[in-house]
Amino acid sequence: MDNRIKIIQGDITRQEVDAVVNAANTSLLGGGGVDGAIHRAAGPELLEETSQIGGCPTGESRSSRGYRLPAKWVIHTVGPVWLGGERNEDNLLASCYQTCFRLARELGVRSIAFPAISTGVYRFPLQRSAKIALLETKKELEKESPLEKIVFVCFSDVVLKTYQDSYGEIFRP
Ligand code: APR
Repeated sequence: MDNRIKIIQGDITRQEVDAVVNAANTSLLGGGGVDGAIHRAAGPELLEETSQIGGCPTGESRSSRGYRLPAKWVIHTVGPVWLGGERNEDNLLASCYQTCFRLARELGVRSIAFPAISTGVYRFPLQRSAKIALLETKKELEKESPLEKIVFVCFSDVVLKTYQDSYGEIFRP
């Protein structure tokens, strides 16, 4: 068990971490789901900042301050829309985690919270996404990462169970 990894059920906007990851869209102008929740909790200054960034391509990430969130930073990442699995979706989702970790290093982040990127409106299959998330995290932690805490914040018990099962497969083969 890697005790730096936490898998919990909860609301990502309440996490006391250095950075929360937002499942954004390419405009970075907010939306529904976790994007809407983060913008509501952070307040209007978040949109004022993200509207100046100029968007973000799928698979990439951009940072902003967290404003009224407990987290100092928000890392906005744009996951792939699931189109059946033949349009490079797996690599694009993996790239979301890789670019989040890269930005976290640049910001000096020690603790980070992720939602289940792309598994809502973007309809990426949950088990497949959880495996990608945990595999990329395993690779990050094998690289002498400065991260001390990585929290996967699951919004439902189904997501929680899926992440817990995937964790077992990847970290305790
Ligand atoms: N805390 C944690 N997880 C949450 C929260 C929350 N407050 N709200 C929603 N979630 C979960 C969803 O249940 C889902 O498991 O986040 C996961 C991602 O779902 P979405 O938010 O729909 O994100 P995604 O599938 O990546 O679609 C992104 O949706 O909201 C729009 O602007 C966003 O266009 C973008 C698209």
